[in-house]
Amino acid sequence: MENRAAACSDREWLEQVYGKLAVKMKAQCERIGSSIPYTTGKDGKYHDIEEGPWGIGFWTNGFWPGMLWQMYEATGDEAYRKAAAGVEERLDVLLKSCETVDHDVGFLFLPSAVANYRKTGDAEARRRGLLAASLLASRYNLDGKFIRAWPDAMGKMAEMMGGGDVRGWMIIDCMMNIPLLYWASEETGDPRFKKIAVNHAKTAQQYIVRPDGSCNHIVAFDPETGEYLNNPGGQGYATGSSWSRGQSWAVYGFALSYRHTGDESFLNTAKQCAHYCIANMAVNDWLPLVDYRAPAEPVKYDSTAAMCTACGLLEIAEHVSEHEKPFYTKAACRILRACEEKFANWDPQQDSILTGGTFFYHDPTGENTEVPIIYADYYFIEAVLRLKGNALFLW
Ligand code: GLY
Repeated sequence: MENRAAACSDREWLEQVYGKLAVKMKAQCERIGSSIPYTTGKDGKYHDIEEGPWGIGFWTNGFWPGMLWQMYEATGDEAYRKAAAGVEERLDVLLKSCETVDHDVGFLFLPSAVANYRKTGDAEARRRGLLAASLLASRYNLDGKFIRAWPDAMGKMAEMMGGGDVRGWMIIDCMMNIPLLYWASEETGDPRFKKIAVNHAKTAQQYIVRPDGSCNHIVAFDPETGEYLNNPGGQGYATGSSWSRGQSWAVYGFALSYRHTGDESFLNTAKQCAHYCIANMAVNDWLPLVDYRAPAEPVKYDSTAAMCTACGLLEIAEHVSEHEKPFYTKAACRILRACEEKFANWDPQQDSILTGGTFFYHDPTGENTEVPIIYADYYFIEAVLRLKGNALFLW
C-alpha cells in the first residue's frame, strides 16, 4: 500500500482524482437531478429515497445536495445549483412538524438550505435554515445540558442498542448537527443557539470522550433530572468498544466547535480523538474498521468513517501551527488514497463513487455492510476540494 501510494505525489494524485470526480459527478447529476440517493439497489443503481424504506426524513438526505453545492462551487455549472435547489424544496415538508425530524436536522439542512444561503444569499433558504435550527434548539434538555438525539419511534432500534427509553439519550453524531446552531447565532446575532451548542459540546466532552481519545456512541441520562445513567452500545460492536464513524464525528465535530467558539479545549479534544483514529488506521493500511475495538474477525470496513475522519483532520490542520499542519494533512491524504484505491468506482455510467460503507456493526442481513453510502461520497468530495483549496464551507 505504502509503495503504491508513493508512486505519485499527493498533488498529482489529487489532480487525477479530481478529473475523474468531475466527469462522474457531471454524469450523475444528469442522471439523478433532484432525486435523493442513499445507496445502490440490487441492480447497482440509485433509487429515490422515497421509493425505499427510509423516506424523506432520513438523516442522510442532505448529502446529495451537499455534493451538488460542492461541485457548483468548484465548477460554477448551473445544473448542480438547480438540482440542489430541487432537493431543498422536497425537504421543506420536514419543517412542518417537530415530530418529523430529530437531532439530525443539522445533517439535513446544513448541506442543503444553509449551503444555498451561504452561496447565493437566497432568503427562502435562510428561512429554512433558521427554522431547522429552532427545531434543533427545542431538543435541548435543560438539566442534562444536552440535545436529545432520537425520537420515541426509535424505541425498537434502541432496544437493539441495549436500551429502551430514548428520551434522555445524547449521541456523538450530534457534534456534527450543532454547527447549525452556531450558524443561527452568527446569522441572527442571538447568542441562545450558540450557548445550547457549547453546553452540549461540553457535556459530550465529559461523558462521551474517554481519556485515550476513544468514544462512546451513546450516553443515557435521566430525562427528568439530567443525571448520568449509563452508556448503551450503539452502532458499534458493543458497550465500551469504539465505533469508527462515531470517532470520526468526534474528530470533525470538536474541530468545528473550536472553529465556531475559539475554545481551545474543543481543539484539544478533536486532536485527542484524531490521534486515536490515526493510530488505529495506520496499523491497518490506513483503512477504517467499522469498530476499532471489535474482534479481529470478521474484518468489516467503513469507508464513511474514513472520509469523515479525513475531513476532520483537514479541519484541524486549519487551526494548528505550520509545524503541526503536515501531520494532519498527510494522515488525511493517506486515508483518502487508501480508500480510493480499495473502494472507488470511477465508471461515470455507474452510480456511486465509493463502496465499503457500513451503517452499523451488527447487521444480520448484510445489506448495510460494505456498500455504497452517499455520505462516503459527500465527505470524499469535500476532502478532495479542501485539499485543492476550493471547497464550500458547509458546517
Ligand atoms: N448519524 C447516524 C450514523 O452515523 O449512522
